[in-house]
Amino acid sequence: MIRKAGLVLGLFVLSLPALAKGDVQAGEKKAMMCVACHGADGVSSVALYPSIAGQSEAYLVQAMQAYKKGERSGGQAEIMKAYVSGLSDEDIENLAAYYAQKSKPGQ
Ligand code: HEC
Repeated sequence: MIRKAGLVLGLFVLSLPALAKGDVQAGEKKAMMCVACHGADGVSSVALYPSIAGQSEAYLVQAMQAYKKGERSGGQAEIMKAYVSGLSDEDIENLAAYYAQKSKPGQ
């Protein structure tokens, strides 16, 4: 039983790098619709909007999927839900790859 749990956990950890497969160029094209709130390079100039540049690709995918599925909801999350609801899983991966390779704010 314990060995089985270890195997499942091992497979999960191994599958994490597989998330990092987005296409940066394709993501850059889609990012046009994000600029107004998240800034030209993913560094926001509006205090209420988060900077997303330089976050890990896996985290960005996870965050966008959570808005899409309604796992992040209420308040400002509703804004994001509207923007990601029309994106495919591939769009989300590409956008994540694009923002992940940008420099974090102040760097
Ligand atoms: C109208 C403004 C607006 C637009 C356009 C917009 N966002 Fe957002 N975004 C927000 C706000 C506000 C939040 C914070 C929501 C919350 O409180 O969960 C957010 C949060 C996020 C987060 C989570 C950040 C974190 O640290 O958890 C990601 C990732 C993200 N946006 C990506 C995008 C992408 C990619 C696009 C373009 C497809 C986009 N956003 C378009 C306003 C916007």
